[in-house]
Amino acid sequence: MPQPWMGKVIVITGASSGIGCALALVLAPHSPRLVLVARDQQRLQSVADQCEAQGAETLAVAADVADSEACRTMVQQAVERFSRIDVLINNAGISMWGAFDEISDLQQFERVLAVNFHGSVYCTRHALPYLRQSQGRIVAISSLAGLTGLPMHTAYSASKHALNGFFESLRIELADSGVSVTIVAPDFVQSEIHQRSIDAQGEPLGQPLPDHASFLSAEHCALIIINAMEKRKRLVLTSLRGRLGRWVKLLCPQLIDWISKTAVKKAYRRMQ
Ligand SMILES: NC(=O)c1ccc[n+]([C@@H]2O[C@H](COP(=O)([O-])OP(=O)(O)OC[C@H]3O[C@@H](n4cnc5c(N)ncnc54)[C@H](OP(=O)(O)O)[C@@H]3O)[C@@H](O)[C@H]2O)c1
Repeated sequence: MPQPWMGKVIVITGASSGIGCALALVLAPHSPRLVLVARDQQRLQSVADQCEAQGAETLAVAADVADSEACRTMVQQAVERFSRIDVLINNAGISMWGAFDEISDLQQFERVLAVNFHGSVYCTRHALPYLRQSQGRIVAISSLAGLTGLPMHTAYSASKHALNGFFESLRIELADSGVSVTIVAPDFVQSEIHQRSIDAQGEPLGQPLPDHASFLSAEHCALIIINAMEKRKRLVLTSLRGRLGRWVKLLCPQLIDWISKTAVKKAYRRMQ
C-alpha cells in the first residue's frame, strides 16, 4: 500500500484545535514530519504529543500568523529541523459575527483579514522557496463564505474571497513549477471557531452555533482535505449544498442570497 505522507514535512497552521488538530491526528499514523503552528503553546504541545504517540515526528511552533516575521522564523525552524518542506496547509483562521454598521472597532475587522488572509500570504511567501525545491503542495482552507457573500460575516467573507483570489492567481504563476495549489471550501464543521468568534463589539460569542452537533466532524473534513491534497485537486467543497450552490448561483444568484440570509438569520435568532 503506498504511503504518500511517510517522512513528508507537512506544516499545518492552526493545529491546536478543530480542523488543523484533526489533520495532524489523521496524518500522524502515516509517519510524517509535522510542523504544528498556533499561538497556544500548551495546546499545541498536547496535539504534538498525541501525534508522536501515533508515529509522527513533530515540531510545535508557537506563532501568530498575522506577524510576517513570526512566519519567517517558523519556516526557518521547520527547515533547520527537517531540512525541507513538502506541504503547507494554511488553515489558521478566526471569525466575526455582526452587522457591518454595528462594528464599533474597525481594528477587529482588520484583524480577521490579518489572520485569515495575510497569515496565509506570509506563510506561503516564506515557505515557497522550499516548496519549489520539493515540488510540493500548498493547501488553503477557505470557506463557502469565500465563494458567496454571508451576511453578518463581512470581514470573514471578505478575507476568504481575498484568499481565493490570491491562491487562484498564485496557482497560475506556479503552473510550471510542480507546486500545486488546492483550495478547500468547507461548509460548517464541528470546531471551536464559532464560540471563539467575536461579535461587532469585539466580545467572544462564547457558545457554539445551535446546530453544531449536525455539522461535519473535523475528522471527516480532515480526510476530505488529505484526499484532495494527495490528488493535487484545485478546489474542494465538503457538502452537496455547497457544490450545487455554485451552479444555482450562476442561474439565480438571488436565491443563493436568500438561502444565505435565511440560514444566518435562523442561527442568530437561536443564539439570542
Ligand atoms: N468550522 C467551520 O465551520 C469552518 C467552515 C469553513 C471554513 N473553516 C476554516 O477552517 C479553518 C480552521 O478553523 P476551525 O473551524 O478548525 O477553527 P478553530 O477550532 O477555532 O481552530 C482555529 C485554529 O487557528 C489557530 N489560530 C487562530 N488565530 C491564529 C493566529 N493569529 N496565529 C496562529 N494560529 C491561529 C487557533 O489556535 P490558537 O488560538 O492557539 O492560535 C486554532 O488552532 C479556518 O481557516 C476557518 O475559517 C471553518
